[in-house]
Amino acid sequence: MERYRNDFPSLGQRRDGKPPIYFDNACTTLVPQPVIDAIGEYYAKYPGCGGRRSHHWFAEEVTSRVEDETAGSRRQIADFIHAPSEKEILFALNTTHALNAVALGFNFREGDTVLLTDREHNSNLIPWLRLQARGGVNVQCLPMGADEEFDLDALESRLKAGGVRLVSMGFTSNFTGYTIPAAEVVRLAHRYGARVLLDAAQTAPHRGIDVGALGVDMLAFSLHKMCGPRGLGVLYAKSELTGAGAKPPDEGADRLDPAVLGGGTVADATCGGYSLLAAPEGFEAGIPNYPAQIAAGAAVRYLGGVGMERIAARERELNGYLTAELLKRYGDAGWFRVFGPQDASKRGGVLTFEVRRPNSTGIATELDKKANIMVRDGVFCVHSYFNGQFGAGWQRPKSHRDHRMVYRVSLYFYNTLEECRTFVETLDAIFAERCYI
Ligand code: ALA
Repeated sequence: MERYRNDFPSLGQRRDGKPPIYFDNACTTLVPQPVIDAIGEYYAKYPGCGGRRSHHWFAEEVTSRVEDETAGSRRQIADFIHAPSEKEILFALNTTHALNAVALGFNFREGDTVLLTDREHNSNLIPWLRLQARGGVNVQCLPMGADEEFDLDALESRLKAGGVRLVSMGFTSNFTGYTIPAAEVVRLAHRYGARVLLDAAQTAPHRGIDVGALGVDMLAFSLHKMCGPRGLGVLYAKSELTGAGAKPPDEGADRLDPAVLGGGTVADATCGGYSLLAAPEGFEAGIPNYPAQIAAGAAVRYLGGVGMERIAARERELNGYLTAELLKRYGDAGWFRVFGPQDASKRGGVLTFEVRRPNSTGIATELDKKANIMVRDGVFCVHSYFNGQFGAGWQRPKSHRDHRMVYRVSLYFYNTLEECRTFVETLDAIFAERCYI
């Protein structure tokens, strides 16, 4: 896999004579040259409006790169997740925007329950809590089961009790890296009449997704986490929900309406009324991020070339090494723990650990200063889980002895074993300097 590193100009840099060690891939990934070139090409060669807006040389270049039925980005993204139709690919700003589009556009009825897990990213929690506060839905969180794995029996019991209209869950956790058994979740939800929305922000970059085989109703992800451009997300939504199919949803049936209206969404309008275009156009209001849409095609082509199976295998290999090393060194110390399943093969490329020692903050900054190692610390937008586990105010303990800090290493296929070894040695040196070991 290491030959792919040459495709990423950011990896060729040096600071203090040392290369970057980028372990913050769950936040955003690095960008390969073909994607950078696709963005640059738009600005340099045809920086116009595409879609159905303008009809000239530049517009046609843009439109064909995004909408061509065989080679356009929308088609390539549909192929990447095995969506039956490119009309089911709705461009959004990012995963957050896509999830909000469902919260604001799905035809909920008073009293519907939206079922989440107990460790959702804020983007798959706050939009639902706002709906609840406005009196539309009930929000419930399903706890993880034994060994921090998904409890299908608990899901079925909750579904059987009734009232669940939508199951909205992180497909792969940005906090632990654990991937839920999505096919079984969808099968159970459908058996009890609920729809399923998956937050696949941390899945789409790391393993192949087949929305047809999963049967999932809606699925959201962001291109910037998969070697793609910033500022572009995707909401996959089944045609039967959006009316993109031959037949619009029946009156009273489950339906997703556009959350944002305006330019580009309108079939016709008067001063007294309007009619909307079908999906995808009806769902994509305003001038979009054309260079990102074009570069999205380059990103999924690039990942397809690397191979999703190989990406997943590489992450397993690296995470297996890192997890074993850290558990061997600190697993019995009492102040160190790994979140999620202890078996690294169930956590993709994510290794999140707690350091419960006096003054345990600042380790991310030290890793960066000492060896250009970039990891993330904090609560990773999963405040609800940490507050539930540690109690409100845990980040401001009264005594420095109660300090705890959480760090996350998130890997991608361009990372190497050598980088992982440097990380282990540097972390060990920091722990020694702090007299933790
Ligand atoms: N959700 C992103 C992360 O986990 C930003 O880092």
